[in-house]
Amino acid sequence: MERILVTGGAGFIGSNFVHHLVDRTDAEVVVLDKMTYAASRDSIAGLPTDRVRLVEGDIADEAVVEPLAAEADAVVHYAAESHNDNSLADPAPFIRTNLVGTFTLLEAVRRHDVRFHHVSTDEVYGDLDLNDPKRFTEDTPYQPSSPYSASKAGSDHLVRAWVRSFGVRATISNCSNNYGPWQHVEKFIPRQITEVIDGRRPRVYGDGLNVRDWIHTEDHSSAVLAILERGRIGETYLIGADGERSNVDVVRAILRHFGRPEDDIEWVTDRAGHDRRYAIESGKLRHELDWQPRYADFDAGLTQTIEWYQQHQDWWRPAKAATEAKYAQKGQ
Ligand code: NAD
Ligand code: DAU
Repeated sequence: MERILVTGGAGFIGSNFVHHLVDRTDAEVVVLDKMTYAASRDSIAGLPTDRVRLVEGDIADEAVVEPLAAEADAVVHYAAESHNDNSLADPAPFIRTNLVGTFTLLEAVRRHDVRFHHVSTDEVYGDLDLNDPKRFTEDTPYQPSSPYSASKAGSDHLVRAWVRSFGVRATISNCSNNYGPWQHVEKFIPRQITEVIDGRRPRVYGDGLNVRDWIHTEDHSSAVLAILERGRIGETYLIGADGERSNVDVVRAILRHFGRPEDDIEWVTDRAGHDRRYAIESGKLRHELDWQPRYADFDAGLTQTIEWYQQHQDWWRPAKAATEAKYAQKGQ
């Protein structure tokens, strides 16, 4: 049985991957998570205790990381500060976790020759114009816009340098915007669903025409497992499911679901440096590793997600008021 260390495994996407590993492999999983505001014990509750163990700790703390890396066959690295708006308000934790944390993990896997997979984002490539026919590929130059995306870009560069200079056995994936159950209410889709459940208007930045390329988190997990098992060392794979939608279109779909008028929208202050459009060309992953998304229909995935938030109000309500208070201070 393989032992896999999953950093950030109590977060939105990492916890989905932990479930995926338990369902699809025989691996023993150790979750290393600092349990920040973004983590949830509930998201990994109920998994077999002989297969999954949670260690509360910081990836930037060498004393924590060293023994866990020493006993792992592979490390799958999700832990990060992940929210752009937070990085604009206070970049410091992004530098510490996303850069120093990744460095600390790389040094540990180098010492113990452990396979490493680095989970990153399409935001490292900056943005595209709305009418640009191009999509991001593995060859697109890096041009990050926010402190968050710059810290993730830096972490990708660290991984590549550790592969080339030290022979670390690593792969990288850059994925587009995820949606699905267990996503924190600070993020766009859960924020709008929960605003509408609470009888308020969805809150859209700027002109609402910014485009994101949505993928269900289950599809992200299956792609990461394919790369972990069959990806070529040193390679980068873009993960996407052809889910381009403008923000205002997503909000209109949520309003329609609740039988509310489609123009019942609160237009709020735009995000500083707001990226216009992300779009992923995932042909390398699909052809080389024979991967396909299961949630090809975004509207069906969105409906499932809306229903999940309707049914899990006990989970998201404790975070909702504080999240909205933070946004209100910024006129968002
Ligand atoms: P999240 O904020 O929901 O979860 C992050 C997790 O990391 C939390 O459980 C948190 O407690 C943990 N963490 C934070 N700092 C830590 C530290 N110093 N040590 C240990 N654990 C720490 O984020 P997410 O949306 O699940 O994103 C997970 C990963 O996927 C990130 O690396 C992110 O950059 C990447 N990613 C996210 C998306 C997306 O749409 N959300 C898309 C592409 C890539
Ligand atoms: O592309 C991948 C990235 O997707 C990940 O790397 C990040 O971790 C993840 O947070 C996400 O980044 P975004 O900034 O795209 O996601 P967010 O949910 O914050 O916002 C999505 C879009 O919606 C963006 O154009 C900003 C807009 N928005 C967001 C919020 C919270 C609004 O219009 N209103 C809002 O209330």
